[in-house]
Amino acid sequence: MSNCTLPEENVRPRRLADFIGQDDLRANLDVFIRAANERARPLDHTLFYGNPGLGKTTLARIMASELGVNMVSTSGPVMERSGDLAAILTNLERGDILFIDEIHRMPATVEEVLYPAMEDFQIDLVIGSGPGARTVKLDLEPFTLVGATTRLGLLTSPLRDRFGCIFRIEFYSPEELGLIVERSAAILGVRVEPEGALVIGRRARGTPRIANRLLRRVRDYALVHGDGTVTREIAESSLERLDVDRHGLDNMDRKILSLVVETFGGGPVGLKTIAAACAEEVRTIEDIYEPYLIQCGFLKRTPRGRVATAKAYQHLKLRMEDDRLPLL
Ligand SMILES: Nc1ncnc2c1ncn2[C@@H]1O[C@H](COP(=O)(O)OP(=O)(O)OP(=O)(O)O)[C@@H](O)[C@H]1O
Ligand SMILES: [Mg+2]
Repeated sequence: MSNCTLPEENVRPRRLADFIGQDDLRANLDVFIRAANERARPLDHTLFYGNPGLGKTTLARIMASELGVNMVSTSGPVMERSGDLAAILTNLERGDILFIDEIHRMPATVEEVLYPAMEDFQIDLVIGSGPGARTVKLDLEPFTLVGATTRLGLLTSPLRDRFGCIFRIEFYSPEELGLIVERSAAILGVRVEPEGALVIGRRARGTPRIANRLLRRVRDYALVHGDGTVTREIAESSLERLDVDRHGLDNMDRKILSLVVETFGGGPVGLKTIAAACAEEVRTIEDIYEPYLIQCGFLKRTPRGRVATAKAYQHLKLRMEDDRLPLL
């Protein structure tokens, strides 16, 4: 999507003080940023890892604005040749942040350009071709690389080792998500009661992006079925209608769970089999659905495959009973 008026943009926090949750990370980042500003030196290369929608891009942008520098963005899969990255690197200005999203998906030849760039602010350029080709070293302006990945495990160790700071971004608590909803609501001009925000926070799968998305849906519902205010009742009934249950599970999550429970007798069952049975990509299941199901304690990863827990059985049963209740 190349749409720059994505609804996500207006509510994205711009300063560290507006960033809610991740207290330890925020405190550490605050110290690094102050120290870098104090020394007037670029910040160490920084890597953020965590599930989609938890704030990696947001934090990279916050770093740039707190440091008062430009941020140049690219992503691992769009850089196909080493020259693509070399062109970006040679255009950086002193102190700039180079943000590489999905850094684990960078081709190996591109990654090799990054090593000397990160370590010595230099790149090796090959001039000419054939027997007459030669390499020259080119100096770069000092810069800070900020990488983001949903999969720390897929980063090669030479790359990982070149980051001075590696931060893990965790799922958010329902209370933190409630605060994020209140903040976004204020920006969007939506009236929301704290209890209503908390209901959304509880069902947002620990993820700010989902909290903001649910807020927009609930807001529509509040306008049509209420006086526009997001109350607890409005939040609950609209999320039920959206099929988001009290644990934040949606249809796909429940489909995965019921597959494991009913079709595969509770497991163990391999991820590929689950993906095929749900007609979903393995990566989507692995990056988006599974981490939350594991985090909630519905699914366990074992060496032989995924296993449903007693809590999953209980949840599916309650859900079936809930479905028999009339909706508001
Ligand atoms: N701590 C936070 N406080 C308030 N809002 C947040 C916070 N973290 C994220 N958000 C909101 O959630 C949205 C998604 O965050 P972001 O784009 O930074 O996620 P991401 O980790 O980069 O996801 P992806 O892996 O999909 O790229 C942002 O637009 C922002 O509005
Ligand atoms: Mg991102």
